[in-house]
Amino acid sequence: MQSGHKISLLGSGLIGMFYTMTLHKFQSRHVVHHVFSRSEERAKKFAADWSIPKYSTDIKTVINDPDTDTVLIGLPNHLHLQLVEMAAEAGKAILCTKPLGRDAVEAKKMLDIVEKKGVYAAYLEDLVYTPKTLKSLESVQRGALGKVLWVRSRETHPGPHSAWFWDKEQAGGGALIDMGCHCAEIVRVFIGKEIRPVEAMCWMDTLVHNIPAEDHAIALVRFQNGAMGQIEVSWAFRGGMDLRDEVAGTEGTIWLDHFLRTGFQMFTNVGQGGYVAEKAEGDKGWLFPVGDEVNELGYTHMFIDAFDAMDNKRPPMETFYDGYVVNAILDACYKSAKSRQWEPIRLDDWRGKEMTEQQQVGDKFVDEQYDLIKEEKMPDGRVKHILKDKKSGKVIEKIR
Ligand SMILES: NC(=O)c1ccc[n+]([C@@H]2O[C@H](COP(=O)([O-])OP(=O)(O)OC[C@H]3O[C@@H](n4cnc5c(N)ncnc54)[C@H](O)[C@@H]3O)[C@@H](O)[C@H]2O)c1
Repeated sequence: MQSGHKISLLGSGLIGMFYTMTLHKFQSRHVVHHVFSRSEERAKKFAADWSIPKYSTDIKTVINDPDTDTVLIGLPNHLHLQLVEMAAEAGKAILCTKPLGRDAVEAKKMLDIVEKKGVYAAYLEDLVYTPKTLKSLESVQRGALGKVLWVRSRETHPGPHSAWFWDKEQAGGGALIDMGCHCAEIVRVFIGKEIRPVEAMCWMDTLVHNIPAEDHAIALVRFQNGAMGQIEVSWAFRGGMDLRDEVAGTEGTIWLDHFLRTGFQMFTNVGQGGYVAEKAEGDKGWLFPVGDEVNELGYTHMFIDAFDAMDNKRPPMETFYDGYVVNAILDACYKSAKSRQWEPIRLDDWRGKEMTEQQQVGDKFVDEQYDLIKEEKMPDGRVKHILKDKKSGKVIEKIR
């Protein structure tokens, strides 16, 4: 067995904690060896809580630690580009949290930096690694749903936990950049990453909070093969964190609920007396706890893949290129929300397929004259066939 990696972790906030919890909880071979935090007190406490040998308030010291080979970025969005630059300069493997950039220009710079330097890089998009998503993807890739036509991905909660998220400059936007980045990638993996996203139409508004950024958005993303992605985000949803995906294909459907209705419901009159789940609004009454949160949010499988890919010299499932495509989709959404028009998704560097026209699936062949549009069993037991005459185009119905 190969020896594990030693990690320089940048950030001791929520994501730094989730990442460390994932890596250290089950005695993974890969461990955080050095942690950076701006505050000495926080750095010391974080290191003690998670048995991390070294801590520092000097970011360069942590990145350049000769004992570590990997830099794990868990700091706010406006810092990602400069941190990727510093880590690549130090020759370290880089794992960067979502969103990769505040926009596609930043993301493309990060992609270019790691490719030029030849350092390993993974984009930490955890929500495509949830056990349910991985299993669903296997089914979709085996063709269990036929051609995927429509993917809906929703992430809503009552709003983020730190000031910087609410600052448009540091975050790069509001709810859409923060959570729409998950949804955009979920949509892509189900439709097929090789299919080009071509245009986006987006509504966004600030319905609740007194902030310059959007606290709600709904976006439609059209792909070159005709498939549609639907993204829904809110920072003002009441009742916890609602993470749901739906995949609709010509031959099947998948509905996923990752957080609120996972089959674990609990009532307490006196209170849970502790943490329930991320963004839970209370700890009394009916609750939706989550069994193993870091696993159900995809962090476990994400790190398994990221380190396995690094060791086996293959690309991870989520690369910086994916992060760049996601940013390009969101840029078009922001543009569309302003122009109130469909806006093209600008991808100067497209590495997937190029199709000349939308592929239609077509109806089932019945005989030389007819195609079957629909078969339906009626309440009285009769079976109706809706048929289209191939020559005349006329639609008729027949009882079978
Ligand atoms: N599911 C996910 O993958 C997921 C979930 C949450 C956050 N994130 C991402 O992780 C990153 C951090 O988010 P978080 O939730 O941990 O935020 P957080 O506010 O909980 O933690 C951020 C940390 O960065 C520090 N910090 C803030 N500004 C700084 C600066 N200028 N210089 C140095 N340190 C600074 C803060 O003190 C804090 O410790 C963001 O990019 C966010 O989008 C990803």
